[in-house]
Amino acid sequence: MRFCTNVAGLHTHCCSSRPEGEFPGAVHPRKRRSVYARRLRLFSGRKLTSLQAEARRRLDSLPSVIAEVSGILLELQTADLNIRTKSNDKDLVTRADLESETRLRSFVERNFPGDHVMGEEGGGSLSGAGFTWVIDPVDGTINYAHGLPLFAISIGLTLDGTIAGGLVHMPALSTTYTAVKSMGAYCGQRKISVSPTTNPSQALVVTGFPYDRSDKIEYLLGGVRSVLQNCRGIRRTGSAAVDLCWLADGKFDAHYEMNLSPWDTCAGELIVREAGGLVTTFAGRDHELIDKSLLATNGHLHDAMLKILEGMQ
Ligand code: IPD
Ligand code: CA
Ligand code: CA
Repeated sequence: MRFCTNVAGLHTHCCSSRPEGEFPGAVHPRKRRSVYARRLRLFSGRKLTSLQAEARRRLDSLPSVIAEVSGILLELQTADLNIRTKSNDKDLVTRADLESETRLRSFVERNFPGDHVMGEEGGGSLSGAGFTWVIDPVDGTINYAHGLPLFAISIGLTLDGTIAGGLVHMPALSTTYTAVKSMGAYCGQRKISVSPTTNPSQALVVTGFPYDRSDKIEYLLGGVRSVLQNCRGIRRTGSAAVDLCWLADGKFDAHYEMNLSPWDTCAGELIVREAGGLVTTFAGRDHELIDKSLLATNGHLHDAMLKILEGMQ
């Protein structure tokens, strides 16, 4: 048994040299054991709860299927994607979203037959007893469909309403973020933490916009205006999972967005919390997966950002 997926063998074919966040490819089993042993020593003296152990066992099982799905996503990105629209002409689904979710679902069914799945394309609910896998098969579908590299596979694990584990893999960047509840957050094997920024005027803020926005334009622009007036800059990556991981990794200082769904945020919000960040609604209450507003920050900036976004409550 190893600590988390980031020490297992995943190697997507897009890069010849491996960035630090990637699962190391073809790690020798003895080396894997020593990485795991080191990690375990880190937690020695603390008994793993069964929630942690079970979440970790599930994340540990993922590298091969993530490698397979990543390979498919990278290959299909330049093929005929059969792009269709869902709720409106901005909300896309491609052959790759469906293929990715089908493979991830059958992986769970085969390996964890008692677990439930909630996925963006295939549905499901958060209320089943036992573990639920909350899957976004491609987060950042517009980027993906336009040939951009900012997209991710996002897999969160919940147990009785608690987020117990999360993995976000960015196939085109060969980067993987993982977290298990109360055991920290990692980019590959590197423990990550949020930025130390305390002054909003030095903050780089990232946001996203809902597909259904025709009647919310003024409201959304109000948030952007306030951030532009008070912060160093604003970005839009096009993937909420990427936004949350890069906040957890100290690259962004805050992320806010409306109308996200559980599959957009489940893995990423645990990764943020485990990296020392805070995730609430725009009203400042702890964020739950069904909430429609999300403000994630490095913690130091939270009160200031709540104030900056006051008009969006
Ligand atoms: C979208 C992305 C985007 C966010 C949208 C999401 P999708 O997910 O996370 O950043 O702004 O609200 O729906 O549709 O690409 O899986
Ligand atoms: Ca999404
Ligand atoms: Ca998606």
